[in-house]
Amino acid sequence: MTGQTEVKIAPSILSADFARLAEEIQRVEAAGADLLHVDVMDGHYVPNLTIGPPVVAALRRVTRLPLDVHLMMTNPDAFLKDFRDAGADSISVHVEVVHHLHRTLEAIRSLGARPGVVLNPGTSLVLLEEVLPFVDFVLVMTVNPGFGGQRFIEACLPKVARLRRMIDERGLDVAIEVDGGIGQHNVRALVERGAQWIVAGSAVFGAPDPGLAVRQLRAAALGVASPDGESGEAVPTAV
Ligand code: DX5
Ligand code: ZN
Repeated sequence: MTGQTEVKIAPSILSADFARLAEEIQRVEAAGADLLHVDVMDGHYVPNLTIGPPVVAALRRVTRLPLDVHLMMTNPDAFLKDFRDAGADSISVHVEVVHHLHRTLEAIRSLGARPGVVLNPGTSLVLLEEVLPFVDFVLVMTVNPGFGGQRFIEACLPKVARLRRMIDERGLDVAIEVDGGIGQHNVRALVERGAQWIVAGSAVFGAPDPGLAVRQLRAAALGVASPDGESGEAVPTAV
């Protein structure tokens, strides 16, 4: 495996209590979360509305964690600078909606953020062919975007493995992020196939103790004993 092999746990605030965001974030930060995943939805590209740059700016004031901003928007170009100014450290855009993908990725980099591209479950890896050298990470959606708490789509497992091969064959240092329906039961299978940045919303903030959930997720990702004493072993799934 080339380059970034470290597993990063990225709680998604979509499932957090928005009235107590600072407190929720402090719990996962104290538990060793690596990134904070921020889902921006425009009510057009996806059938849901969430947050915009002012909330990202508010998050920036209460955490040192890198802010990983996932733009589920029809026109992300118009807002890149706003999100970067608000404190986004990495910004990902969907390949399905951006017309001038190379230009957008270069714009994100020139603003000083890490550029990433996102693929929906039904979108082919073929669309990455020309842009892979220009991204720091690829986000493979493992549910259809729009909502937290959906069921993981198993067909995405071999897709992660194929993407890993695609990146490694080219000798690139591109991280694979996965997002949607991820928890202790399937995270190991994703990591074994090459996923590195693990987004989890309901599995973290829907748990009674989000901090413990972060530690359990990391243990499961690494295949080591869970903090509560249970095994981190995943259910075996064919590639
Ligand atoms: C879905 C979002 C996800 C969401 C994941 O469109 O991109 O980041 O928060 O939530 P869970 O982990 O509950 O599937
Ligand atoms: Zn997301």
